[in-house]
Amino acid sequence: MSLDADRLERLREAFRRRWSRSPTHCARAPGRVNLIGEHTDYNDGFVLPMAIDRDIWIVFAPRNDRQVRLWSADFGQTSAFAVEAIARDPSAPWSDYVRGVAWALAERGIVLRGLDAVIQGEVPIGAGLSSSAALEVAAGLALLTAAGQFISPTELALACQRAENEFVGNRCGIMDQFVSALGRRGHALFLDCRTLHHEHVPLPAGYRIVVANSMVRRALVDSAYNERRAQCEEAARAMGLRALRDADEAALESAKARMSEGVYRRARHVVAENGRVLQAVDAMRRGDAGTLGALMDASHASLRDDYEVSCRELDTLVAIARRLPGCLGARMTGAGFGGCTVNLVRADAVDAFVPALREAYHAATGLAPDVYVCDAAEGAGVSDL
Ligand code: GLA
Repeated sequence: MSLDADRLERLREAFRRRWSRSPTHCARAPGRVNLIGEHTDYNDGFVLPMAIDRDIWIVFAPRNDRQVRLWSADFGQTSAFAVEAIARDPSAPWSDYVRGVAWALAERGIVLRGLDAVIQGEVPIGAGLSSSAALEVAAGLALLTAAGQFISPTELALACQRAENEFVGNRCGIMDQFVSALGRRGHALFLDCRTLHHEHVPLPAGYRIVVANSMVRRALVDSAYNERRAQCEEAARAMGLRALRDADEAALESAKARMSEGVYRRARHVVAENGRVLQAVDAMRRGDAGTLGALMDASHASLRDDYEVSCRELDTLVAIARRLPGCLGARMTGAGFGGCTVNLVRADAVDAFVPALREAYHAATGLAPDVYVCDAAEGAGVSDL
């Protein structure tokens, strides 16, 4: 893993100033964008995200005791805890992701040691690009390395998801942590969220993935997310199935009378979206970017109309993108209610696409969107310094 030399030097310097010694390692973990397969992971379904070239770095050095001392360069704040007594820190909520991972690793019987760390991230926070999963995965690698321990990337992703579910208190699925830990440069990651079987699928040549931030984040995302999860569980129960993963369109239609219209439409999204992921993987393998784009469009319509997790700004961003030359498909990505869209754009059209999208969205909403042309990045890793 090669590290950006300037960024590393700044972090070394921050570490020396803060902890009066030198760091020995750097853990890094990327954020992600999901190409397709939205709100399917917690239904045991399929997803197709990629790790992006925006990541979180933790430079650290092990300690001989069991104290974990953290400095967040982004929040300008310190937080410390002892690994044998881990509680949340309401004065530094960012540290709860690190604390949660330490807790989840300890729950697995891993004996941790202390460390000093400086944390710095380039994944936009609260934009739906999984900065929290990146922090968890990087923290897991730092804690394991400091303790001289190793677990597989899949086990690490599961421990990080457990930290988020049970310690931080967000009921997320496995997608974000998994792709942060196991992404591969130039590839999307096709994941079966039931079996955790996964395959790296190359991105179509000649196209770029463009992520556009709507710059809005609705309140109540968490409660709406949990409500959708409960509706999916209700639909599966009404069909006598373990999860919506096991449903097809025919089974759903024949069970329609046993569920409310709203629950039926949630299930219709999940069933169709799982099918779209399989078709998207197939299209990518054939290098068929046109079909991939059309599936992304259909995914957005389904999230907007059946799953009802889009919003006016996301719909506006998608509609503008689809009118611009060289854009083959666009959709909201992540949990929804604001955050980002993901766009499949011909490589030779990107330079014109980005400013045109910015200007038209600004004209329509008064908001200035951040737009990132993303490369599919390698998953998390640790380097000796
Ligand atoms: C959030 C969650 C993921 C997934 C998506 C929706 O990003 O963290 O687990 O459920 O929403 O696809």
